[in-house]
Amino acid sequence: MAQQRRLSVSISPLPNGILSPSSPTLAQAQLATSPPNASSFSISYEARQRASGAIPFPQSGKALTEFPLKDDPLRILLLENVNATAVAMLKAQGFVVEEVKKALGEQELIQRLKEGNFSAIGIRSKTKVTAKVIAECPNLLVIGCFCIGTNQVDLLAAAKAGIAVFNSPFSNSRSVAELVISEVIALSRQLCDRAREMREGVWNKVSKGCWEVRGKTLGIVGYGHIGSQLSVLAESMGMSVLYYDVLPIMPLGSAKQTETLDDLLEQADFLTLHVPELPETTNMIGAEQISKMKDGAYLLNNARGKVIDIPALIDALKSGKLAGAAVDVFPHEPASNGPNFGDSLNAWSSELRSCPNLILTPHIGGSTEEAQSAIGAEVGGALIRYLNYGSTIGSVNFPEVNLRPILHDGTVRLCHVHLNQPGVLKVVNAVLGEHNVEKQFSDSKGDIAYLLADITNVDEKEIKDIYEAIAGSRANIATRMLF
Ligand SMILES: NC(=O)c1ccc[n+]([C@@H]2O[C@H](COP(=O)([O-])OP(=O)(O)OC[C@H]3O[C@@H](n4cnc5c(N)ncnc54)[C@H](O)[C@@H]3O)[C@@H](O)[C@H]2O)c1
Repeated sequence: MAQQRRLSVSISPLPNGILSPSSPTLAQAQLATSPPNASSFSISYEARQRASGAIPFPQSGKALTEFPLKDDPLRILLLENVNATAVAMLKAQGFVVEEVKKALGEQELIQRLKEGNFSAIGIRSKTKVTAKVIAECPNLLVIGCFCIGTNQVDLLAAAKAGIAVFNSPFSNSRSVAELVISEVIALSRQLCDRAREMREGVWNKVSKGCWEVRGKTLGIVGYGHIGSQLSVLAESMGMSVLYYDVLPIMPLGSAKQTETLDDLLEQADFLTLHVPELPETTNMIGAEQISKMKDGAYLLNNARGKVIDIPALIDALKSGKLAGAAVDVFPHEPASNGPNFGDSLNAWSSELRSCPNLILTPHIGGSTEEAQSAIGAEVGGALIRYLNYGSTIGSVNFPEVNLRPILHDGTVRLCHVHLNQPGVLKVVNAVLGEHNVEKQFSDSKGDIAYLLADITNVDEKEIKDIYEAIAGSRANIATRMLF
C-alpha cells in the first residue's frame, strides 16, 4: 500500500463558503472579504506575497504559496553551519530558518525535526538522514545537502517517502581549475622543492629543468565542468590545450579534442585528470599510460583518488620519467584533520612523500570560501524552487520536472509525487479532465514518478476537490497544491 503523505493543515469553511486554515492570516482576511460570487480563484498576488512573505525568485515567475494557506510560514532546519548565503536566501523567501552549528545524531535529529515541525532540512556531510529519520518525520518535504556528496542520505527511502534531495555537484569547479593552474606553474618551476629548501636554510638558485608554461601543451582528460574551465584559463597563459573525453564535446577557444587517450598522452607536457570515479576510470593512468607520455612531462590528479595507479607514479617520479606531479585525492583519505596520512592508510604513503617535485594536498581542490558560498546559493536556490514552484531540477533522487513560470493570478499548480505504476495518468486526467490544464509534465525515476500540472480558472472548492482526489488516489506518495 502506498505511503500517504498529506498536508496537515485543517481546512474550515468561512461564512461565505471559502476555505481557510483555522486562524486567519492577512491573506485569508482578504480572501474572506472577496465577493462571495467570485467564480475563479482570486486571491491576489499581493495577498499571497504578504501571506508567504516571499519575494519572487529570479526567473521563476510569481512566488507561489501552498494551498490551503497555512497559519505559519514553512520551517527549515539548517545543520552543520550551512553557509550564510543560503540562510539569507531562505529567510528572504519568508521561511522560518533555525540554525544549528553542529551535526545531530539520529535520535536527536528525529526529535528536533518533529518538535519543530520542519518541512525542510539542510545538512552538510556529517548528518546522516537515515530511513528511520525519514519514516519518523512525515512532514519533511525536501532535504538540501550543502556539499557535493549525498551518501549521508538514504536517497531511496527519501524518494519513496516523496522527499526530494538536492546537492551541489559543480559549485567548486572554478576553485579546482584555479588550483590546477597554480600547480602547473609551481611544478614547472619546482616551486615546492625550492620553498622547502629555503625553509630548511638551503639556498639553491637553479634554472635547469625550470620552464615557462607559455607555449607548452596542457592535456586534459575529462572536458566537463572543471576541464573546460581549466581550458580557458590555460589558453589565457599562452598554453595549447588538447583534451580527451568519452563524449564529443565542443571545444572552448582554440582547444582541440583528441580521438584517443594515447594521442593525448603522447602530446601533453602537462596531463591533468578531471574524470569521475567509475569502473572504467579506476587506474586509467598506470605504468603503461605513463610510459606513453613524453619524458619529463608532469601528471596532475585533482579528480578522484583511484584514477591514478600511485605505485606507478612513484616509479615514474623516482626514475625521472616524469618531472613532477600534483596529487590532491587519494584512494583512502583520513576521516579527520591531523597527522593521519601514514602508511597504515595507504601502504605507499611514505614512499610517495619522499618523491621529488611532488605537490601533495589534502583534497582541497574545491575548498574555497567562494565555493562554500556558491554551494549555499545553489542548494538554497534548489530548495526555494522546490518549495515555492515544485521544480525538481537538479534533484538526485527524483526525476527532473519543471514547468515554465505561472505569470497570472487564478492558476494553481498540482505537484504530485506518485508510484511509477500503470494507470496513474488515467486517474489524474480523470480528475483534471473537466478543467483547463494549461501545462503538464511528468517523468519517472525507478519506482517513483513526479507530475506537475498548472490548472487555470478554478475556485477554492474545485482546488480542494482536486487535492483530495489526487492525494487520496492509490498511487499517491505526496501531493501539494501551489498557487
Ligand atoms: N579535488 C577536489 O576537491 C574536487 C572538487 C570537485 C570535483 N572533483 C572531481 O573532479 C572530477 C571532475 O569533476 P567535473 O565537475 O568536471 O565532472 P563533470 O561530470 O562535469 O565532467 C567529467 C567529464 O569526464 C568525462 N569522462 C567520463 N568518463 C571518462 C573516461 N573514461 N575518459 C575520458 N573522459 C571521461 C565525462 O564525459 C565528462 O565530460 C570528478 O571526479 C569530481 O569528483 C574533485
